[in-house]
Amino acid sequence: MSSALIIGASRGIGLGLAGELVGRGWDVVATHRGPAPALAATCALTHVCDIDDDGSVMALVAALGDARFDHVLINAGIMGNRGDTASTVTRDAMAQLMWTNAIAPVRAARRLLPLVKDGGSVGFMTSILGSVAGRNHAHAELYSASKAALNSLTRGFAAQDVGKRNIAVLNLHPGWVKTDMGGDGADIDVATSVKGLADVIATARPPGQRYVDYTGAGLPW
Ligand SMILES: NC(=O)c1ccc[n+]([C@@H]2O[C@H](COP(=O)([O-])OP(=O)(O)OC[C@H]3O[C@@H](n4cnc5c(N)ncnc54)[C@H](OP(=O)(O)O)[C@@H]3O)[C@@H](O)[C@H]2O)c1
Repeated sequence: MSSALIIGASRGIGLGLAGELVGRGWDVVATHRGPAPALAATCALTHVCDIDDDGSVMALVAALGDARFDHVLINAGIMGNRGDTASTVTRDAMAQLMWTNAIAPVRAARRLLPLVKDGGSVGFMTSILGSVAGRNHAHAELYSASKAALNSLTRGFAAQDVGKRNIAVLNLHPGWVKTDMGGDGADIDVATSVKGLADVIATARPPGQRYVDYTGAGLPW
């Protein structure tokens, strides 16, 4: 039986993935910030964690104690104010977007890395919108920039922090998914996305880093 820790699973893709992995017989621990009744009904073991807050992440690590995981996934993310552009966004709003989507996931991953078993993986929920090479439009430019920054930071994490450890690093695009963030007009439902993501995570083989979507297809950095 495999084990997974999912950070940011109160709703949407994180909640769906927790349910998918529990359904496959995995041992799943998942985190939430506020009340999360749907997660409590899905997952036997949950903890509170706000990745924006170092103290909260350190309290999680302390609460997890000797627990070790095959796979750790940092799923938490925010969209920010949808209408904002580089020309209109406030410093505070941009700082929040960059902190939650790029800085905080890597800070949390550095603290959680000792809990990942050899042969396992660390996953980051990024987006195809974080691809610089593939970008030829200005859609969601600030969210996209935050995910591009996440991709860049994870390259350093994979090279330096994971280093020679036998752990895979996955930069995952879940598809355009019908969630609070993705909206009703998105391409796929949560069940489709998380089935694919679960297959990608389950078959991740270290060493190395891959930027892939929920079908396992490689994406251009
Ligand atoms: N939906 C899509 O089409 C799509 C496409 C590409 C990438 N993604 C990425 O996939 C991930 C999940 O997206 P989603 O569509 O499921 O979004 P969602 O429905 O808005 O859910 C976001 C999740 O992240 C959590 N979260 C946000 N900030 C957090 C923080 N500081 N600490 C801990 N948890 C935090 C939320 O917790 P609360 O309930 O406490 O707010 C919630 O559980 C995100 O990283 C997103 O950028 C989504």
